[in-house]
Amino acid sequence: MVTDDPVKLMKQAVGRAAAARVESNTVVGLGTGSTTAYAIQALGNRLAKGELQNVVGVPTSFGAEVLAKEYGIPLTTLDAVDGIAIAIDGADEVDPQKNLIKGGGAAHTREKVVDCLADLFIVVVDGGKLVDKLGSKFLLPVEVIPMALSPVMRALAKLGGQPELRMGVKKAGPVVTDQGNLVIDVKFESIDNPGELEKTINNIPGVLENGLFVGVADIVLVGELQNGQPLIREL
Ligand code: 5RP
Repeated sequence: MVTDDPVKLMKQAVGRAAAARVESNTVVGLGTGSTTAYAIQALGNRLAKGELQNVVGVPTSFGAEVLAKEYGIPLTTLDAVDGIAIAIDGADEVDPQKNLIKGGGAAHTREKVVDCLADLFIVVVDGGKLVDKLGSKFLLPVEVIPMALSPVMRALAKLGGQPELRMGVKKAGPVVTDQGNLVIDVKFESIDNPGELEKTINNIPGVLENGLFVGVADIVLVGELQNGQPLIREL
């Protein structure tokens, strides 16, 4: 994946920086998305070069699984391991308290399971993902079981949100998650208390999980460009 696109350069650099923190003999949570894809590639390269031994991955999506196989990372499941040493995952928005909105790839349910289990959760983003307040730019994804779509849409509107069903691209009809569910993207004018909203939404019958990750991230690595060169800083 050679590129001179500035955003891709930042994503690549930050993905590599996160992969550099993985140690031998560990279980690694493999996130979903274009930034994490670079981390998965870098991890596979380190394994292939013999820099790392005995690393196994727990993928957060079918997409992450496919990539891990492509780059030669052995995979396991949560039934087969006691824990996860480190998880690397992207985000759609990051606030100054390291709270996140995730789910741009409709994978936030599995991502939350894996990222929350990790002893160390490293978030990898480019500078464009940093916001003062969550919800400023990105809609909040909510995964819902199909038969509860209408009542959940109404409940989200009652909470002050503007819900819309996420539609597929190059696929007729709605996006279907790896669990066979639907995703509602919700515009909130202002998310003043992300922790409270995360719990309130998850309490609506039929909601599986929403994309607010509050108090979960340990480290946020931010890729930025300085004089055309990618630079990594820790938030
Ligand atoms: C998928 C996610 C992704 O991590 C998030 O959308 C960021 O993706 P990208 O690195 O492609 O910008 O939450 O559900």
